[in-house]
Amino acid sequence: MSLLKINGLTQQFGGLTAVSDFSTEFQGNELMGLIGPNGAGKTTVFNIVSGFYKPTQGKILFEEKPINGLKPHRVTAMGIARTFQNIRLWHDMSLLDNILISQHYNLGYNLFDLFVRNRRYIENEKRMRNIAMQLLEQLDLVQFMDEKPKNLPYGIQRKIEIARALSVKPSLLLLDEPAAGLNSSDVQELIKLIGWIHKEFKISIWMIEHQMAVVMSLCSWIQVIDFGKTIAQGTPEQIQNNPAVIKAYLGDDQI
Ligand SMILES: Nc1ncnc2c1ncn2[C@@H]1O[C@H](COP(=O)(O)OP(=O)(O)O)[C@@H](O)[C@H]1O
Ligand SMILES: [Mg+2]
Repeated sequence: MSLLKINGLTQQFGGLTAVSDFSTEFQGNELMGLIGPNGAGKTTVFNIVSGFYKPTQGKILFEEKPINGLKPHRVTAMGIARTFQNIRLWHDMSLLDNILISQHYNLGYNLFDLFVRNRRYIENEKRMRNIAMQLLEQLDLVQFMDEKPKNLPYGIQRKIEIARALSVKPSLLLLDEPAAGLNSSDVQELIKLIGWIHKEFKISIWMIEHQMAVVMSLCSWIQVIDFGKTIAQGTPEQIQNNPAVIKAYLGDDQI
């Protein structure tokens, strides 16, 4: 059984084909990279997989079940969590509340339970809080739990976003340019963190990233797209030496 199987995915925006006949497969527990020049269609692939866009064409199976066109919260509930290229956090809530709120589609209680504050409500709130606190400890964020994200450094905000994604216990984690905007020491820390998450949580990670040091040191398999089309895939070493990839990044005259 494969974890995620994408076949012939195409996304058109008016006359623009942002993603064209894209296919990939995760067996489970891989750490794969999706790279390509700006505007190649990488984020669009993630937006489709996470339910933000309904693809023009193609098939997406998650744990053998079709997920095309499902709403984002349904996709998350099935086990796919993501972070965004531009960090998206609730900046006026505490760090802890940012993590709690993301678990709320996972509630396990209904409005009635909430209204009467019965045992089911109390137990679920406790369970969610325990999950959140454990993550904050694991990601070394406890000291910031009462702070608002907007008052914290960018590197910490990235970590909060990752913690929030993990709080829903995904089996597939999508990271869209996690190193964007980080300084070099934060990037080193991020590399360690992602590697650790992959081992500790035994989940599949699919990462879009521009910083080659991050992709090359973490990913065992890399897929390269340009103008929505896959132009190469392989191990980091194969990708680094692939003429089509070098051309897509640097242009003809560099070869
Ligand atoms: N919602 C949208 N409507 C119209 N065009 C879009 C939309 N989202 C992305 N695009 C276009 O699709 C192309 C791919 O974008 P994107 O997936 O964000 O690229 P990447 O993440 O690889 O930089 C770009 O030309 C972008 O302008
Ligand atoms: Mg992008």
